[in-house]
Amino acid sequence: MVPVRFLLLIPLIALLNGYGVEARIRRYKWEVKNEFKSPDCYRKMVITINGRTPGPTIRAQQNDTIIVEVTNSLFTENIAIHWHGIRQIGTPWFDGSEGITQCPILPGTTFKYQFVVDRPGTYVYHAHYGMQRDSGLYGSIIVGLPDGESEPFAYDYDRNIILNDWYHNSTTEQAVGLSKVPFQWIGEPQSLLIHGRGRFNCSSLSVPSSDPGLCNTTNPDCFPFRLIVVPGKTYRLRVSSLTSLSALSFQIEGHKLTVVEADGHYVEPFVVQNLFIYSGETYSVLVKADQDPTTNYWITSNIVSRPAPNTPGQGVLVYYPNHPRRSPLTIPPAAPVWNDSRPRMAQSQAIKARRGYIHTPPAVSDRVIVFLNTQNELNGRRRWSVNNVSFTHPLTPYLIALKHNLTHAFDQNPPPDGYDFLNYDIYERHPNANTTSSNGIYRLNFNSIVDVILQNANTMNPKNSETHPWHLHGHDFWVLGYGEGKFDMFNDPNKYNLVNPIMKNTVPVHPFGWTALRFKADNPGAWSFHCHIESHLFMGMGVVFAEGIEKVGKLPSSIMGCGQTQGL
Ligand code: C2O
Ligand code: CU
Repeated sequence: MVPVRFLLLIPLIALLNGYGVEARIRRYKWEVKNEFKSPDCYRKMVITINGRTPGPTIRAQQNDTIIVEVTNSLFTENIAIHWHGIRQIGTPWFDGSEGITQCPILPGTTFKYQFVVDRPGTYVYHAHYGMQRDSGLYGSIIVGLPDGESEPFAYDYDRNIILNDWYHNSTTEQAVGLSKVPFQWIGEPQSLLIHGRGRFNCSSLSVPSSDPGLCNTTNPDCFPFRLIVVPGKTYRLRVSSLTSLSALSFQIEGHKLTVVEADGHYVEPFVVQNLFIYSGETYSVLVKADQDPTTNYWITSNIVSRPAPNTPGQGVLVYYPNHPRRSPLTIPPAAPVWNDSRPRMAQSQAIKARRGYIHTPPAVSDRVIVFLNTQNELNGRRRWSVNNVSFTHPLTPYLIALKHNLTHAFDQNPPPDGYDFLNYDIYERHPNANTTSSNGIYRLNFNSIVDVILQNANTMNPKNSETHPWHLHGHDFWVLGYGEGKFDMFNDPNKYNLVNPIMKNTVPVHPFGWTALRFKADNPGAWSFHCHIESHLFMGMGVVFAEGIEKVGKLPSSIMGCGQTQGL
């Protein structure tokens, strides 16, 4: 019955739109395949879309309908694609999170995603099946304003960069290590990619290969990213991160970056030398090509928050008409000190909603949930957990189980709303022996206001706490505040920013710190809220919220086919 609904959709959107501006339908046909590529000069089997990684950029205007027909041409793996930052209002079944909103797309089959991009801004898409995003299945979604409307800032050109980190071993090898007893850590990524291109030092391979194609720095796949600029012009640079593990610092040698957008929301502009960016975040920065035009400049990404080997991502800002192959004569700018979290905390706190574009948050919330983020060992298996519960996926996607009342599909006991605040020392290494694993979920009252406090803590290693970027599906949240140490229930809420908080869909919780969020549970569906680090989510660092299930429309049969969904 999809075609009928689809026909009805067109005049409806034009009507809702009100301005006589016609919302368009943008159709894409994607083939997802395994191919050998050398994004950082080292050959690896990757996952491409229409032959490319990063995949094609979706460009649309606000209120357009996007239709993507995805054919899974992988030989043995399932897929699912998530539209990160798109709230899927009215289409919760096309969120693309496997196990939560749909069954996986089997090899040899085609799945049709159809949704409306209802807000302008910079978004991404990526695989949401296992840790498949690490294999290269990702890309950008850029939503412009309707014709005749303009941004509250001026620029001459619009450019897009996705940052990533890159492992040489396969996602499957990583998964085996992470679930092994004893735990076998996958280590740091081998390189950083700037828009799908990096540079691995082939001479550092421990065993030189007899195969000259295995690692070859002259391979065109790894020709470094070039951004060509015209002197005097201003560029809007959309910068997104889809790293599997790393927190990054991004900078352009000699150029200041003015931050104007974060996760699709306008930011009260502020200037930085380097932009800290966490997996799942998107920003727009303005860059003016106002430096000496006779030379080129480095564009770099560096790992922060982990003691990673020095494997910077490098690209070049080319001043037209300089030769694009000419590398700068300078040494690339130094990376910030990896373990100093203060400048990162300061930058997080500097991000406020732009004047004239402030969405004032509700003054009070109906429910406060505190999420203690810890590592632990469960039956000899290393896991991450939230309030001592390590998340596992059920076989039947939640949206289907909830809508069809399949009460045996997942644990009906909800996980806890908090932890033992009084007695838990976040600076100590805890075995967290009472940890359980569960696929229970948080049921939110429809339209209620929910506060989430993310509380960071020590990992299984002494004196160590990591940065976790938490991403919420189906909603944006207000970022009410960040702090160091243990969240104080009585005093910290008084310091919340209720005046001009930014709205985002992904936010870091800094080492040994806390982050406070508020959102309205107004989008009927089942939504994942998780750490955007692939290995952390794989190891249980996530939860699921469900709200307004009775308001969810008839589920399309295309999302069925797994677990207890047969016959629905
Ligand atoms: Cu971009 Cu559930 O993630
Ligand atoms: Cu994490």
